Amino acid sequence: MKISVIGCGYLGAVHAASMAELGHEVVGIDVDEARVASLASGIAPFHEPGFNELLRSNLERLHFSTDFSTVQGHTVHFLAVGTPQAPDGSVDMTYVNQAVKDLVPFLSPGDLVVGKSTVPVGTSTRLAEIVAPTGAVLMWNPEFLREGFAVEDTLAPDRLVYGVSEDDAGKAATAILDAVYDAILAKNTPRLIMNFATAELVKVAANSFLATKISFINAMAEIADVTGANVTQLADAIGHDSRIGRRFLNAGIGFGGGCLPKDIRGFVARATELGVGSSLAFLTDVDEINMRRRGRVKEILEEELGDLAGKTIAVWGLAFKPDSDDIRDSPALDIAQSLVTAGALVVATDPEALKPAGRRVDAAGMSDRLTLVHNHRDAVHGVDAIVVATEWDQYRDENPSDIALLVAHPLVVDGRNCLSPDDWKAAGFRYRGMGRT
Ligand code: UGA
Repeated sequence: MKISVIGCGYLGAVHAASMAELGHEVVGIDVDEARVASLASGIAPFHEPGFNELLRSNLERLHFSTDFSTVQGHTVHFLAVGTPQAPDGSVDMTYVNQAVKDLVPFLSPGDLVVGKSTVPVGTSTRLAEIVAPTGAVLMWNPEFLREGFAVEDTLAPDRLVYGVSEDDAGKAATAILDAVYDAILAKNTPRLIMNFATAELVKVAANSFLATKISFINAMAEIADVTGANVTQLADAIGHDSRIGRRFLNAGIGFGGGCLPKDIRGFVARATELGVGSSLAFLTDVDEINMRRRGRVKEILEEELGDLAGKTIAVWGLAFKPDSDDIRDSPALDIAQSLVTAGALVVATDPEALKPAGRRVDAAGMSDRLTLVHNHRDAVHGVDAIVVATEWDQYRDENPSDIALLVAHPLVVDGRNCLSPDDWKAAGFRYRGMGRT
């Protein structure tokens, strides 16, 4: 099948390459020339395990362009442009609206437009009306990929969700998308068909639930801190109940990235518009708990070191999570910057995110007080404290006895509760976790 993917960011680029992997002829469209050039030459513009290989092995069937007219003659058009957060917390729909506007002149009767971007409920009905006069049909097919597992999540998803109109057009759309995902469906992947509003809500409901789970355990970490309890043991114990489950119960400095924070805010904004804001009042608490976690590291450092002015602190990790170079709304980078604001000298490191972090640090005018180094061991020479802010394997696996020889003051703040407190204490460190000591 001939497929176009509009928007070649994280979601679109991985989706385009995955569709080529399934045997389709694919063109990816993006306005960013550098991104298109990079993808076309088989070089991933971001760090994602397995993506470079997928891209390179499919370049025969996979093209990228900034020219919208190249979508002409393609049957299925995926909308995968970004839906960033607007200043008021709502969802900025500029890119989705523009993509549909640009696409309409090239649509033919029988074409299928498939929305994948995360949008406010009600969007599909509105866009279906714009697309209808061309004879093309719209459906909504939300994406659940996680950064770091994007290829796996796209080619072997937990489920496929189809949001369709409740008429013959919906049936036609289902048949076409089934043909696109034939190889995935052949592996007995659950496929759930529902109306537009439900499909749109599934996506934001899933992310809201995950965010709530993380803030729940972080709230428990706050209680643990004042009671002497251990939040990791608590999570292990409640996680054994299969109704609760252990995943997404890791307390720490909280969630970041390009999805969970903006999606819960956008959901609250949309519910408020619809007059049901009180139904999602708890998500405002989820957001507040989450943002408080970022300040907790500074509090712990001040408890241990007093005024941070003139102190030197190593920060291990800048990406919002391991196996990613993404620093969008990253708690790690936020913390590094807040320590600088408190007067500390920060030496930070990350295996993948140094380049984007460097641009952010320069833009903030902090490069004289926030130094970036490649090796995490180079970051700790003579420091007063180490903060672990992203749980990369190389930090978890580090030998604390070797690190003890390099620091001026043996204090470690484990922002992701990913180190062994016993090992670090045995090496002479004062260990402070998040809801555990
Ligand atoms: C998230 C969802 O997990 C995906 O299902 C969804 O498709 C995606 O958003 C999206 O909307 O596109 P992602 O942003 O890649 O995926 O990252 P997550 O793995 O969800 O992690 C989000 C944040 O939560 C990270 O900062 C991570 O460190 C933090 N986290 C995660 C915790 O603090 N504790 C946990 O137990 C788990």
